[in-house]
Amino acid sequence: MNLTKFIFAKCKGCAKIVLVLFFVGFLALIYQISDQTRDRGTQSYYSSFDKSYSNGYTPNSRNPLASKPIVRKKMGTKLSDVLPNESTVEGWDYNTSRDTSLYIQPENITTVLLPEKFCSSPHTLLIIICSSPGNFAIRNVIRDTWASTSNNSNFSIQHYFLLGQVSNITVQEQIEQEFLERNDVIQEYFVDSYNNLTIKSLMMLKLVKSHCLDTVKYVMKTDDDVYVNIALLTQYLRVNGTKNLLVGYLMRGATPVRDRKSKWNAPYYLYKGHKYPPYLSGTGYVMSIDIVPKLYEASFHTSIFYLEDVYITGMLSQTIKLKPRDHMGFTYRKRDFSPCTYLTAITTHRLNETEIKDLHSLIHKTDFRKCKKKPTPKSLFTGKGIRAKKCNSFFNFC
Ligand SMILES: *[C@@H]1O[C@H](CO)[C@@H](O)[C@H](O)[C@H]1NC(C)=O
Ligand SMILES: *[C@@H]1O[C@H](CO)[C@@H](O)[C@H](O)[C@H]1NC(C)=O
Ligand SMILES: *[C@@H]1O[C@H](CO)[C@@H](O)[C@H](O)[C@H]1NC(C)=O
Ligand SMILES: *[C@@H]1O[C@H](CO)[C@@H](O)[C@H](O)[C@H]1NC(C)=O
Ligand SMILES: *[C@@H]1O[C@H](CO)[C@@H](O)[C@H](O)[C@H]1NC(C)=O
Ligand SMILES: *[C@@H]1O[C@H](CO)[C@@H](O)[C@H](O)[C@H]1NC(C)=O
Ligand SMILES: *[C@@H]1O[C@H](CO)[C@@H](O)[C@H](O)[C@H]1NC(C)=O
Ligand SMILES: *[C@@H]1O[C@H](CO)[C@@H](O)[C@H](O)[C@H]1NC(C)=O
Ligand SMILES: *[C@@H]1O[C@H](CO)[C@@H](O)[C@H](O)[C@H]1NC(C)=O
Repeated sequence: MNLTKFIFAKCKGCAKIVLVLFFVGFLALIYQISDQTRDRGTQSYYSSFDKSYSNGYTPNSRNPLASKPIVRKKMGTKLSDVLPNESTVEGWDYNTSRDTSLYIQPENITTVLLPEKFCSSPHTLLIIICSSPGNFAIRNVIRDTWASTSNNSNFSIQHYFLLGQVSNITVQEQIEQEFLERNDVIQEYFVDSYNNLTIKSLMMLKLVKSHCLDTVKYVMKTDDDVYVNIALLTQYLRVNGTKNLLVGYLMRGATPVRDRKSKWNAPYYLYKGHKYPPYLSGTGYVMSIDIVPKLYEASFHTSIFYLEDVYITGMLSQTIKLKPRDHMGFTYRKRDFSPCTYLTAITTHRLNETEIKDLHSLIHKTDFRKCKKKPTPKSLFTGKGIRAKKCNSFFNFC
């Protein structure tokens, strides 16, 4: 006789009890599985992730577009370069390899989330906004404000947010939801942290090199605390867009900060020189597509350095003998909120959600014809003009 039938015949309440026990067992099993997934860390978490979401990309599959095998130099720090009791940078101590290919894995696909439409149709300008994984609100504000002006007659623009990995599973699930809903989120395979921002920008070069060389003309890198005046940038690129272009706010003669308390600390073992090569502020720079593969390849011959802008626009452009160009429309500062400032301001930095919204409406309600300077003044095209003034409010670094 069947055991279940026997039990049910003997006891009427048993069906419920069995069901409840069964359900509890099922929950325990699920919990066990998810717990194991957590314990194994992010790597296996992603291999269990539904591949259809991520366009079939899984980290560490072979990259069919990988360039010829890279001749690896041993890129490390000689202990003789280390000064006695010198400070270290978190994540980049003396013994951390400086070999870019270890982090970027050029032979492998490292993309976790990638919208299918990414670079599948022609666009004039691709904007990559490096965003911190938890900044959901500010991404929504950017979508609704400056990044919403997608097509400007024949100058089409597309934006994507670039994120790295997070350890918090809840945040990861929210990112996947955002990815499905908004179709403009890219996630790459590295731990997202301030000291890994160079890896983020190199991942941007890797993605663009793999997918966009035939479909895009210009690439802009910016951050999620920046307002970009798309209309002005478009005007500039229409007139002055050329090959071999790398343009932004040029820093000349910047000296490495040797202070263990600084966010930009550059101990001697990481950078020996007295001055950085001229570089563009990482808050916003634009390059023509032809230099993307050049910068990318150069990174495998240039020891990685954790300050993103110094490395990408300074050291790498020096390696390929490209001079970054200065344009007064870009700034690493916050600008004051007086309307006529935005006649020539392409980027503005250090803005929070509210300020991005406020600036967007300010720019849209301003009648620039009333400004003393003419709309689209010559300085927009020449790039020469008055720098962003330090603003008069009481913000840090303003
Ligand atoms: C460096 O180390 C020496 C002794 O090892 C110590 O006397 C000195 O204060 C240290 N300097 C700094 C800047 O920490
Ligand atoms: C780096 O490696 C050297 C030699 O193996 C060792 O003496 C030193 O303690 C290491 N330094 C750090 C910061 O791990
Ligand atoms: C590429 O992926 C393979 C397989 O996961 C791995 O063994 C290899 O180390 C990766 N390459 C690099 C440069 O990390
Ligand atoms: C923008 O232009 C691209 C290509 O020219 C086109 O595929 C896309 O649909 C346009 N988007 C909008 C919102 O008009
Ligand atoms: C846009 O179209 C105009 C003519 O309508 C042309 O002169 C110009 O080169 C085009 N710009 C781009 C970026 O394709
Ligand atoms: C993960 O993120 C969520 C949402 O931001 C937060 O509430 C939670 O405390 C975080 N968990 C851990 C373990 O940090
Ligand atoms: C990124 O940063 C974290 C912590 O700062 C570090 O543990 C990790 O190894 C770094 N590199 C990559 C490729 O994720
Ligand atoms: C943004 O910054 C302004 C000025 O510092 C401040 O008043 C406001 O509360 C901030 N808003 C948010 C959402 O943090
Ligand atoms: C941009 O184009 C304008 C108009 O053709 C020209 O006067 C200006 O010199 C150019 N600027 C640069 C930086 O090439």
